Amino acid sequence: MTSSTRPRVFISRVIPDDGLQPLLAQTDADLWHDELPPPRDELLRRVAGVDGFLSLLTDIVDDELLDRAGPQLKVVSNYAVGFDNIDVPACTRRGVAVGNTAGVLTETTADAAFALLMAIARRLPEGYDYVRQGRWKTWGPMLLLSPDVHHATLGILGFGRIGREVAKRARGFDMRVLYYDVYPAPPEEEARLGAQRASLGEVLAASDFITLHVNLTPETHHLMNRETFARMKPSAMVINASRGPVVDPDDLYDALKNGVIAAAALDVTEPEPIPADHKLLTLPNCLIVPHLASGSVATRGKMASIAAENIFAGLAHKPLPSWVNPDVYQQQKA
Ligand code: GLV
Ligand code: GLV
Repeated sequence: MTSSTRPRVFISRVIPDDGLQPLLAQTDADLWHDELPPPRDELLRRVAGVDGFLSLLTDIVDDELLDRAGPQLKVVSNYAVGFDNIDVPACTRRGVAVGNTAGVLTETTADAAFALLMAIARRLPEGYDYVRQGRWKTWGPMLLLSPDVHHATLGILGFGRIGREVAKRARGFDMRVLYYDVYPAPPEEEARLGAQRASLGEVLAASDFITLHVNLTPETHHLMNRETFARMKPSAMVINASRGPVVDPDDLYDALKNGVIAAAALDVTEPEPIPADHKLLTLPNCLIVPHLASGSVATRGKMASIAAENIFAGLAHKPLPSWVNPDVYQQQKA
């Protein structure tokens, strides 16, 4: 194909070659090379006239962007499993297929959530600071004592793919696993994972650790707030590897500062990135890492590959391998 007949695609950041190379080879691709996302006005300029858009979770895809892109746009492929940055109904109304990277990052993200749980439970960040500050003088019978992880109760809010993989890991630690989800898992799945469904109130009250694996929606926005923290045990800890706004940051600060809960570990924040002088970073019982839960080399490669496949399928008006709005083509015909 000559470049004039090749579909135009905007790729809003450099992604691993697994997905980037096929896109560069087979489309007329415009690639944003900076480490930072394109500023909004630049993004709006770059998407004008494209057939496909490979977006990141830092790009807002709304009516304004879709207008600027134009009616030839066929597919938005988000390089993430989460898609709260995309107005999906707006895309569906316009016949634009939306893809994500579900499935390939499930285990890697669950590993990271469990690492965060272990790190705050066993006070690893505080221990590391202690060593670096030269305060380690001898073996201390009372030094940095912590609760146990094994046989503790784990509460999982959001029992989708990632939540279930976390439950599987918890089994190896002999944890009691409760989950809250609007959709019950099939009984055989509950049995396989040793997990029991309970109400939100029950999970909050009974858990030593609460880990968040919900999508960000209006219903889950600030799900963890002053009121829900108050229903947790004062010894309990919260882990967030979902989306930052699932936790109210001001209420979390107050809860950690005032001993309403014991500790928190966050892979995601509100705002994101969190400023280095944010009050949460002054607390010894709050661990924050920069949204890296899906970031293993292998998984980021698989995410790139599926994101590219989503683009190719959307350009060809075929079902997307990982599809957010599978009703989009029916809708168009109707
Ligand atoms: C990352 O946060 C993702 O949604 O894939
Ligand atoms: C998506 O929600 C997943 O759990 O992979």
